Amino acid sequence: MVSAIVVFDPWYGCTRTVAEEVARGLSFDGRVATVVSAVREVSPEQVLDHDIIVIGSPNHHGGPTPSVERMLTVLRTHDLRGKRFAFFDTGFVRGHGRVTARMESILRYRNPFVSAPFLGLSVVVERPRGPLLPGELSKCHELGRSIRTSAPVPA
Ligand SMILES: Cc1cc2nc3c(=O)[nH]c(=O)nc-3n(C[C@H](O)[C@H](O)[C@H](O)COP(=O)(O)O)c2cc1C
Repeated sequence: MVSAIVVFDPWYGCTRTVAEEVARGLSFDGRVATVVSAVREVSPEQVLDHDIIVIGSPNHHGGPTPSVERMLTVLRTHDLRGKRFAFFDTGFVRGHGRVTARMESILRYRNPFVSAPFLGLSVVVERPRGPLLPGELSKCHELGRSIRTSAPVPA
């Protein structure tokens, strides 16, 4: 069975909420076995056991958190052929798209085998500790579904 992991860095809770909703979207039809894990509770090797890898981070000063950056920096040293990646971040509207782009460029750095294109989503929070803006959670579910439906899954 195709498997997916949603890795996130938990700070105040918004990014965890997004991770769990993306995972629900990914497993909507029961054809992708999906796990959710905090980035410090999983090794890069365990992440690479999965076919679909989704990584999420809060926006901290325009980039991912140090733990997420470390994870990406190790992942990019591996052969990533056949792996499907997607990224999400949480933050204010002014930072929209910046962190997912940064995560993508960290992973691609000197790694010619990363498949393209990525799916990415910036999820907007109202205040530093949340909550998410109304309507954002359904986009998270949709991201999960889009990753699932764009992945080749045997019948
Ligand atoms: C140290 C720190 C730096 C931050 N820098 C930014 C920033 O540059 N841009 C932005 O949009 N949000 C920034 N934020 C707001 C976070 O993105 C927000 O707290 C986060 O999305 C909430 O998710 P969480 O509950 O998972 O921590 C920052 C928050 C912290 C704690």
